Amino acid sequence: MSRHFALTEMDPKDLNSIIDRFLNFKEPVMAEPNIAKKSPYIMQLAPGDYWWCACGKSANQPFCDGSHKGSEFTPVKFTVTSKTPLVLCGCKYSGNKPYCDGTHNTL
Ligand code: FES
Ligand code: FES
Repeated sequence: MSRHFALTEMDPKDLNSIIDRFLNFKEPVMAEPNIAKKSPYIMQLAPGDYWWCACGKSANQPFCDGSHKGSEFTPVKFTVTSKTPLVLCGCKYSGNKPYCDGTHNTL
């Protein structure tokens, strides 16, 4: 046996609550990173693990120095295995963090 949902079966207080939540719905606001530089950092790094700054507030760009603490940002870990030059995002808006994807050209 199926049961059909009917608004008329609802308690008017519940209905008002649903309508109120629908009308007042707002997308959660995402914090925006600080633009450290509107161009990438091109670097050769020794093999090892690194933490790329996602918040843009580090004084040691493009690496995290802990300045993100208390924000919703966390650094992005990446591992270098060879001495190939890397193109690391400086603007913090890349869609392929920690690497530059050209998004800085649109800022
Ligand atoms: Fe920016 Fe840590 S200082 S992510
Ligand atoms: Fe951020 Fe290029 S520097 S996308």
